[in-house]
Amino acid sequence: MPRRAKQKSWREFRPVSGRKKSNQIGRLELKRDRVTVIRNGLRLSREHVQYADSQAAPVLKWAGGKQWLAKAAPLFVPPKFGRYYEPFFGGGAMFFSLAPGRATVADRNEELVATYRAIRDDVEGIIRVLGGYRYNKNVYYKTRSLLTRAEHTAAARFIYLNRTCFNGLFRVNRTGRFNTPYGNYVNPTICNSDRLRAVSVSLKRVTLLAGDFERTTARAKAGDFAYFDPPYITGHKDNGFLKYNSRLFTWDDQQRLARWAAELKARGVHVLVSNADHRAVRALYPGFRVLKVSRRASIAGENTSRGQTSEILLSSYPILPTSRSRNGQK
Ligand SMILES: C[S@@+](CC[C@H](N)C(=O)[O-])C[C@H]1O[C@@H](n2cnc3c(N)ncnc32)[C@H](O)[C@@H]1O
Repeated sequence: MPRRAKQKSWREFRPVSGRKKSNQIGRLELKRDRVTVIRNGLRLSREHVQYADSQAAPVLKWAGGKQWLAKAAPLFVPPKFGRYYEPFFGGGAMFFSLAPGRATVADRNEELVATYRAIRDDVEGIIRVLGGYRYNKNVYYKTRSLLTRAEHTAAARFIYLNRTCFNGLFRVNRTGRFNTPYGNYVNPTICNSDRLRAVSVSLKRVTLLAGDFERTTARAKAGDFAYFDPPYITGHKDNGFLKYNSRLFTWDDQQRLARWAAELKARGVHVLVSNADHRAVRALYPGFRVLKVSRRASIAGENTSRGQTSEILLSSYPILPTSRSRNGQK
C-alpha cells in the first residue's frame, strides 16, 4: 500500500452558505490556511488545510511549482492507487506532499534530473559544496559561467543558481547554457540541509527518469495514478507558452498530452492534469471532469482577475464526493 497523506472526511467541512448557483463545475478556492470547496451552489470551508506528513518538500524554486495546490491534495487525488507517476516533475511539490510508496518521477530537463540523482546519491557532498558558496553578484556570474563535471558539484551549482537567480527561472540560451540573471534577494536560503536530506531519502525509493512524458509514463497500468503538470499557455487571452527548456512545449504537445491522457484513462489509469483555465484547453479533454482551482495571485504579472488567479484540474475519476457532472455534460 502506498503511504499517502491522511484523507479528510468530507463531513469535516462545515457548510458556510447554501446560496444557489448556476455553474455545474466544482471549484476549489485556496487561501493561505483555508480551503473552500464550491459545488452545486454549496460552499464548504475548512480553516486549517491538511498538510501531508512528508518531511520532504521542494528544494528548488520552479516556475509553475504546485506547492500552493499540493497542500489540498487529499481533496482531489484518488483515495487508493498503485504506482504514482509524475512526468513533469520540476520542483516536485505534489510528489513530496503525497509521499507515495511506489513512484516514477521524471522531467525532460536533464540537468534537473541529474541534480535529483546527485541529491539521492551524494547529499552530504552537495551540502559541503553549497556551504562554501557566498551570495553576491560576482560569485553568481562566475558560478554561472563555469561548468563542472563531478555530479555533486554540478548539482550544487544548479541548486545555488536556482536559489539565487531571478525568480528561480530556468532559462537557457541557444547553445543550452543557463542564462537567467542575478536575483537580488536580501538573504536567500542557499542550503537547507535538513530538507535536502529528507528529499534524498524520499528519492531513494523512486524511479527517476529523464525524458518526454509519453515515454516515462508508458508503463502505467490500471489502478496507477498519473499526475501531469505541463508548461501552460501563459495567459487566458494570448497563446504564449512558458519556456522551461531549450525547446518549447507547443500546442501540438498540449494535444499530444490530451490524447495520451485519454489513452491512459482507457487503460484504467487514474489521470489528473493541471492546466490553464482556457476554453481551448478544456476542449481537448472531453469526458474528463473539470475542477476550477483559484487562489490569490502571488507573482507579479500573473494573469489575474481581482487578485485571483485560476487554473483547472482535469480528472478521469470523480474528484469531489458530490461530483457527478462531466466536462460538457451533466
Ligand atoms: C509546470 S512545470 C512542473 C512544475 C511542478 N509540478 C512543480 O511543482 O514544481 C513543467 C515541467 O515540465 C517539464 N517539461 C517540459 N516539456 C516536457 C516534456 N515534453 N516531457 C516531460 N517534461 C517536460 C519542464 O522541464 C518543467 O520542469
